[in-house]
Amino acid sequence: DQKLTPYEVIGEEMLSHLVDSFYGKVQKHPMLSPIFPDDLTETARKQKQFLTQYLGGPQLYTEEHGHPMLRARHLPFPITPARANAWIQCMKEAMNDVGLTGDIKDFLLHRLQLTAHHMVNTNGEDN
Ligand code: HEM
Repeated sequence: DQKLTPYEVIGEEMLSHLVDSFYGKVQKHPMLSPIFPDDLTETARKQKQFLTQYLGGPQLYTEEHGHPMLRARHLPFPITPARANAWIQCMKEAMNDVGLTGDIKDFLLHRLQLTAHHMVNTNGEDN
């Protein structure tokens, strides 16, 4: 038996819906929307590429943009612990909206929590 990657378990279509739902929430979130562009089309496209490879699928992000260097790419934006929590909250809601459930949901959420925590670059007191 071949072991499926998390990307294969979730599937391209659900991953795409997840990202679209997620950015719909980001756009409405009072703590997140101010640091994102008004038009999230390109952001969502890059996030789909990134999450595809993050979950063991084809290296779409790296092929187009090079090494992700996610923490470095986030340094221009003040990412406080509260913003990281808000990001995760939007992702949880998006997972519920698209019907991502079970072990694969728990697995992805856990990894995203670690990554989100890693993106924190200010405690907010200086900005
Ligand atoms: C880009 C915020 C966590 C993946 C961005 C951008 C912002 C942002 C403002 C720039 C959007 C743009 O200009 O298009 C945040 C905040 C986070 C967070 C507040 C809270 C911790 C994460 C996590 C991941 C991630 C956990 C990955 C799992 C990305 C990717 C991009 C991006 C792939 C596109 C980078 C590029 O321009 O090539 N993020 N982010 N972010 N973020 Fe995050």
